[in-house]
Amino acid sequence: MAQTKRQMLTSVELYQDAKEVMPGGVTANIKHFPPHPIYMNYGEGAYLSDADGNKYVDYLLSYGSMMLGHGHPEIKEAIHSQMEQSGTWLFGTPHELEVTYANKIKEYFPSIDLMRYTNSGTEATLLALRFAEAYTGKHKVAKFEGHYHGGYNEVLLSVNPEISEAGQKNNPNSVPSSKGISAAQTNETIVLPFNDDHAFEILTEHASEIGAVVLEPIQGGFIPAEDDFMTKLRNITEELNIVLIFDEVKTGFRTNLGGTQALYGIKPDLTVLGKVIGGGFPMGVVGGKREILMVSSPVDEETTDVLKPKDVLFHSGTYNGHPMILAAGLRTINILENELDHVLNRTEKLKTELESLFFKKGIAMQAVGNGSMFNVILSEKQIRNYRDYQQSDMQTREKIDYELLNKGIYAKPLNRYSLSTCHKEAELEKTLNAYNEVLAEL
Ligand SMILES: Cc1ncc(COP(=O)(O)O)c(C=O)c1O
Repeated sequence: MAQTKRQMLTSVELYQDAKEVMPGGVTANIKHFPPHPIYMNYGEGAYLSDADGNKYVDYLLSYGSMMLGHGHPEIKEAIHSQMEQSGTWLFGTPHELEVTYANKIKEYFPSIDLMRYTNSGTEATLLALRFAEAYTGKHKVAKFEGHYHGGYNEVLLSVNPEISEAGQKNNPNSVPSSKGISAAQTNETIVLPFNDDHAFEILTEHASEIGAVVLEPIQGGFIPAEDDFMTKLRNITEELNIVLIFDEVKTGFRTNLGGTQALYGIKPDLTVLGKVIGGGFPMGVVGGKREILMVSSPVDEETTDVLKPKDVLFHSGTYNGHPMILAAGLRTINILENELDHVLNRTEKLKTELESLFFKKGIAMQAVGNGSMFNVILSEKQIRNYRDYQQSDMQTREKIDYELLNKGIYAKPLNRYSLSTCHKEAELEKTLNAYNEVLAEL
């Protein structure tokens, strides 16, 4: 089992206590890593400090959601002034900011005519699939091997399958990624190979049953769909009456302002957003073609009659469109309008310099990614999908990650790197120095 060397007695004690009240001591499985997770208790800018007083440059950034770093004063101000202006923090009714923020998102995502707010990325992809099923009347879903869309049965299949169970590379099995998923559900979700034209044959074969294809246009935030593959996917889904859903929870306002759809020049039918759009608070969005989104309208557009629930796609939520969160999210986007380009430039610089450090050490490494996210992959081979990634040298990568933790660089072991507006020259230099030392000791 990998060990951390920094003084972490408080984290160890907290972990022991946590195991008495939560299964495995965590309230999200992804937050665990051996021998124990590190308990953070303060964040400022690009830095996190743990309960034992150790300080880290944070590259996890709450799985990418803290795009402005920690404790940004303008976000605090946005929340306070929204609260002062409203007198409360939740109306339980529609309010103006819902419209203002929706128009801002539409500015950058021209594929979105209408949208709905949710409380997480999970809820948003779930809603998108329901839209697709209600609109097409077809109830199977297709997803790609290695892609993550949240924590529910329809998409918790072949997210991280054992290669021994995963089936053929170009015709993968649907493998549960959680206990508790029925065989029936496993068969309802069709798993496709990513960046592989065989996916189109599978879609054609099951076209009469598949209502939606959902994908991370950049798998895991770092493996991009190839241009030609994306164009073909758009064309075939249109041809087969399958709703194409871009899950841009990781990439929205992180690869660039318009998401991957602007990079590819492709309009999906539905887009899902999360993470950055909530400014570090829980939020998601489903947006897309008017005719699809209107399936959830409680009133008939022409007659203005209120429709019967059974004739409408159900979508509700006590906290949808929470004013504090919309205020934080909208201010985040306003700041990124001026600052995102700098983050993108600094990310490119970090990637190039890391690659050159590894090259000098004679270790094959690629900093794979797009925009302000990338992954450190120890492989000479081009990484085009989940299976290529699985063949990279994860053991050495993990060893490096643990050593980096000891030197104050926090990327959860084996996770991707995300940068924020607060990751500047000084943080890049610290990171490169730490890598230099770790690689020298390898
Ligand atoms: C691509 C993608 N979709 C959906 C989700 C689920 O979002 P949330 O964790 O907000 O429920 C995530 C979370 O990491 C994600 O990366």
